[in-house]
Amino acid sequence: MSEVAYSLDDYVDDLRRITRETDDEDEIIKQIGPLAQRLALDKSWLEEKHYDAGPEQGFGVHLLHEEPDHTLAVFVVSWLPSRGAPPHDHGTWAVVAGVVGAERNVRYNRLDNGSRTDYAELSTKHDFDAAEGELICMRTGGIHSVHNNTDKITLSLHTYGKHINHTNRSQFDPETNTKKDFIVKVE
Ligand SMILES: [Fe+2]
Repeated sequence: MSEVAYSLDDYVDDLRRITRETDDEDEIIKQIGPLAQRLALDKSWLEEKHYDAGPEQGFGVHLLHEEPDHTLAVFVVSWLPSRGAPPHDHGTWAVVAGVVGAERNVRYNRLDNGSRTDYAELSTKHDFDAAEGELICMRTGGIHSVHNNTDKITLSLHTYGKHINHTNRSQFDPETNTKKDFIVKVE
């Protein structure tokens, strides 16, 4: 890992350059992943307020950057102990890097063809703990859930092709095979 400082401004410059050069999601994720890891470990951007999370939502969403058209959105998300987010997609590509603590991620496959409104059938693909500096990357349509199984607040750095409240993305209930809109409260 380089010891040269890597700031949020540097990261945003790189996001702009990479997405100007290609619109291939695999290529975008491949190039942004190591930079997100670098920013996650640099922590020069991290402030005390980023640990804030309301008990109602169970996690706190803090916007670090977005472009005027809501693209290239960067958030730090804080997760309260024993809380998490249900299975969801993002409506865009996503690169998540662990910052503090380990977060349990479960990845899902979608089994139905998406033709029925409010219906979705999921199966579990795999699960893993994403610790500091580790990546979770998803193309558009990728589904995961996140849970903080630790007894301390965890933090992760999330970068999306577009601000997730502007992508018409969904949350899923695998018990009832239903889906609905997923809008988050941003601190
Ligand atoms: Fe997510």
